[in-house]
Amino acid sequence: MKNRWYKEAIFYQIYPRSFKDGNGDGIGDIKGIISKIDYLVELGIDAIWFSPLYASPNSDYGYDISDYKAINPEYGTMEEFDEMVKLLHERGIRVVMDLVINHTSDRHEWFEQARSSRDNPYRDYYYWADGRGKDGIKPPNNWTSFFLGSAWQYEERTNQWYLHLFDKNQPDLNYFNPKVMGEIKEILRFWLDKGVDGFRCDVITLLSKTKGLPNGRPGIALVGSEHYIDGDRMEEYLGQLQEVLSEYDAFTVGESVFITVPKALRYTIEGNEYLTTVFSFDHTAADNFFGIKQLSKKFSLRHLKKSVRVWQQGLYGKSWNTLFWENHDQARIVGRYVSAEKNRVEGAKLLATVLMTLSGTPFIYQGQEFGTTSARFADLDDYKDVETFRSYTTLRKIFGKNGAMKRIRYCSRDNARTPVQWDASNNAGFTDGDTTWMKVNPNYVTINAEAAELDPDSVLHYYKKLIALRKSDKAFVYGTYRDYYKNSRKLMVYERESEYGTLFVVCNFANKSANFTPPKSMAKNGEFHLVTSNYGDSPSELQATKLRPYEAIVYKLNK
Ligand code: NOJ
Repeated sequence: MKNRWYKEAIFYQIYPRSFKDGNGDGIGDIKGIISKIDYLVELGIDAIWFSPLYASPNSDYGYDISDYKAINPEYGTMEEFDEMVKLLHERGIRVVMDLVINHTSDRHEWFEQARSSRDNPYRDYYYWADGRGKDGIKPPNNWTSFFLGSAWQYEERTNQWYLHLFDKNQPDLNYFNPKVMGEIKEILRFWLDKGVDGFRCDVITLLSKTKGLPNGRPGIALVGSEHYIDGDRMEEYLGQLQEVLSEYDAFTVGESVFITVPKALRYTIEGNEYLTTVFSFDHTAADNFFGIKQLSKKFSLRHLKKSVRVWQQGLYGKSWNTLFWENHDQARIVGRYVSAEKNRVEGAKLLATVLMTLSGTPFIYQGQEFGTTSARFADLDDYKDVETFRSYTTLRKIFGKNGAMKRIRYCSRDNARTPVQWDASNNAGFTDGDTTWMKVNPNYVTINAEAAELDPDSVLHYYKKLIALRKSDKAFVYGTYRDYYKNSRKLMVYERESEYGTLFVVCNFANKSANFTPPKSMAKNGEFHLVTSNYGDSPSELQATKLRPYEAIVYKLNK
C-alpha cells in the first residue's frame, strides 16, 4: 500500500453560504472564508472540500449549477477565488471543488437551449421522452426522485418530459451523448489549470443509466434505482474523466449512494483507480443518505460497529477509506449519536476519537470541531432546503402536520446548514449585517468557536489534539482493524495494527458508566500506554476499568 498525501491528510468541508460572511449581506462568501484561514491552519487541516461556489439560482444552493465556469456573485468574484486558492496553498492547504455533473440547473444555457425545441442541438444533452398513457399524461417511466415524487417533469412547450433524479430544477445530463462528456472534461481542465487539487464528485455513481430508461421494480423506496446506480458504463465515464484528472494527479472522492465494499473496489482499487476514494453512507444508519428517510432510523451502536468493521477490513490493503460523521446533508451528530444535553462535550469528543483513530481520510464538517448541534427549528418557514420542503409534502400526507414537523426537526439537512457560530455576539459573529440568510441556532451564545478557543477542555481543543496526534504518528492512519465486544450495545473497542505500532481504542457509547475488561487475548495489556482520553484521568495503562459516560481512551503499544 502506497503512502500518499491524501491518506495522511485531514479534510475540512466548507458549505460556503453558511461559513462566514465577509461583506455584511448575511450570506457566507469567499472574503469571509479568507478571514478564517488562520483558524483553519490552527485547527491543523490539510485540505478543504468546498461545497459548490459556482453560479446557481439556488434551488438546491449550488447543487444546481447554471454556469460551471463562474463563481456565484453572492460568494464573490473569480479574482477573489483565485486569491483564496493562492492564500490556502501558501499555508499548505489543498483545495477540492465540488463537481456536480449528474445534472445542471434548469437555468443552465444548455438546458435553456434544450427545452426550446425538439430539434435544438442541445436537446440530447438531457433525457427527454414522451409520456405514457392516453395523451401521454403519465411520466415516461415509474422512477422516483431522491427528493420524493416522480423523477420526470412535463414541458408543455415541446410536449415531452425530462428526467430529474433530484429537484425538477435539476435536469439530468445525458451521458449517452458523447458531447456532454466533452464539455465536462473541458470544465475539469478549466479548474485544474487554476490550480485546484481535486474534486468531490457529487452523486457520481448515478451517471450511467440503463439504455431506454426502463421501468424499475415497484415497491422499493427509490423506484428505478437499479437502472441508474452503478450502471454498466461507469468505468467508461470515469475513465474519460481520468484522462484529464490523471494529467494533473488530481484527487477525487466520489459521493456514492448505496455503495458496498465490492462496488467501492470496482471504482477505487489501488493501481486502477477510477476514483481516488469514495464516501460510503452505511455507518450513518442510512437507507438513503438524503435526510428524512435516513434519519428516521435511530442510532444503533451495533449497526455502526458492523459498518465500520466491514469497511475498515474490506478496503484494507486494497483501497482507501474516507471517514466522516457529518456533512451538509446530515443533521448534526451531537443530538443523534450522543446526547446534546447531558455530557455533550464528552460525547462530541468520543465521536472525534473514533473519527481520528480509524484508517482512512477524515473529513470534518464546519462547526463539528466545536460540537455544533442541530437547530431543530419548530417553524417550517425557518427552513430553506428543497429536500425538506418536498419531504414535508409527502410526510404531511402520512403523519399529519405535527408528525411531519417532528421528522423535519430531527432530520432536515438544514440542521447542518445554519450559520457557523463564531462567537457570542449578534448573529453568532457570522455577519456584521443585521440579517442572516438562514436563522442562527439560538444556542450560539454558549456553543461557539470563540468560547471553545478559550476553554482548554473544549471539543475544539480535543479535535486539535487528535489531529496533531494523527499527524505525528502514522499508527493512527495506517493499519488493520480488529474489533472486540461486537454485540455490546455500550462498548466500541478496537485494535489497529501496523508497522508503526498498535493502537487500542476503548469507547463507552453509553451516557452512563460501563464496565470494561481487556479481552483475554490481550496478554500484553500492561504494555499498552495511554495516548489520550476525553477524561483527564483515565487509567494510564490498559486494564479493567469502569468507564464513565462517553469515555473514550486511546492506548498504544510501540513496536
Ligand atoms: C448530493 C449533495 O450532497 C446534495 O446536497 C444535493 O442535494 C444532491 N447531491 C443533488 O446534487
